[in-house]
Amino acid sequence: MTTLPQSHNPIPNPSMDNQIHRNGAVEPNHRAAKKPKLAHSISDSEIREEFSHHQRGVARINNGSFGSCPRSVLAAQSAWQLRFLQQPDDFFFNVLRGGILESRAIVADLINADHIDRVSLVDNATTAAAIVLQQIGRRFVHGHFRREDSVIMFHCAYQAVKKSIEAYVTPIGGTVVEVQLPFPVRSDEEIVSEFKKGIEKGKLNGGRVRLAIIDHVTSMPSVVLPVRELIKVCREQGVEQVFVDGAHAIGSLPVDVKEIGADFYVSNLYKWFFSPPSVAFLYCKENSNDVHHPIVSQEYGKGLPVCLLYTSHKE
Ligand SMILES: Cc1ncc(COP(=O)(O)O)c(C=O)c1O
Repeated sequence: MTTLPQSHNPIPNPSMDNQIHRNGAVEPNHRAAKKPKLAHSISDSEIREEFSHHQRGVARINNGSFGSCPRSVLAAQSAWQLRFLQQPDDFFFNVLRGGILESRAIVADLINADHIDRVSLVDNATTAAAIVLQQIGRRFVHGHFRREDSVIMFHCAYQAVKKSIEAYVTPIGGTVVEVQLPFPVRSDEEIVSEFKKGIEKGKLNGGRVRLAIIDHVTSMPSVVLPVRELIKVCREQGVEQVFVDGAHAIGSLPVDVKEIGADFYVSNLYKWFFSPPSVAFLYCKENSNDVHHPIVSQEYGKGLPVCLLYTSHKE
């Protein structure tokens, strides 16, 4: 049994427009106005009804790839789409920013971020990986990093993330350290120990490990990695930045970004949090002007949360 939010109004009115400046900046210490209240338990038949659009006779066990969006959420999404189509100018200038801000505030509360500006909404985890890896790539290009410097990850990192390293980091001189994790792993200690050996490798020839990429839940096979312990090792060993790929985490595990302590943390909201496809959040510990969306829009240069408000026209 699980619980449903109290309000079933499919088109919530963004309530925070008056606190937003035109450029999307918000007042310091801004928090989500209200936490959604959980009202009543949801019965088995209501759950079945929520997923009655799924093809009959097929057991959908691959939620990890595409998620599965409840009917009521899809209905709310359609209502928002209609509201946009009714009056796009009004929607774009007067509604969208407030709505996105409200969503960011809810996510910030959920993951214990200390400020809403640390939270951006992105399309998916792969976009977040591009954002993080492009800023690493730029530092190699600009000579801040050297050839001996590296990015470290486990061999089981998600393929698209590995390919992103191939695209954004290795062609411009960065080295990659891939830590082998023999499955089945027996203990967290074993994982941490293999990771430490990888960092030592990254530091050979005077190099520095500039970025560690750590999955919170690996994709195949599915293993929850001891992210906090691994990040502690990163800090002790002078790893400069840590990006946690928590694609499968939110909704399936508690996510407290302050406790976890990564520089960047992404999780897909469309998988185990049951949002419509496709949306994810990217938490950035610091606001840096060097972190941008790969698509350059008119909002470029205004900081990640603002430049993500509008990445040109799309659904
Ligand atoms: C661990 C991991 N990282 C990243 C991704 C990519 O997510 P997306 O397709 O939303 O970009 C996935 C997809 O399932 C994943 O399992």
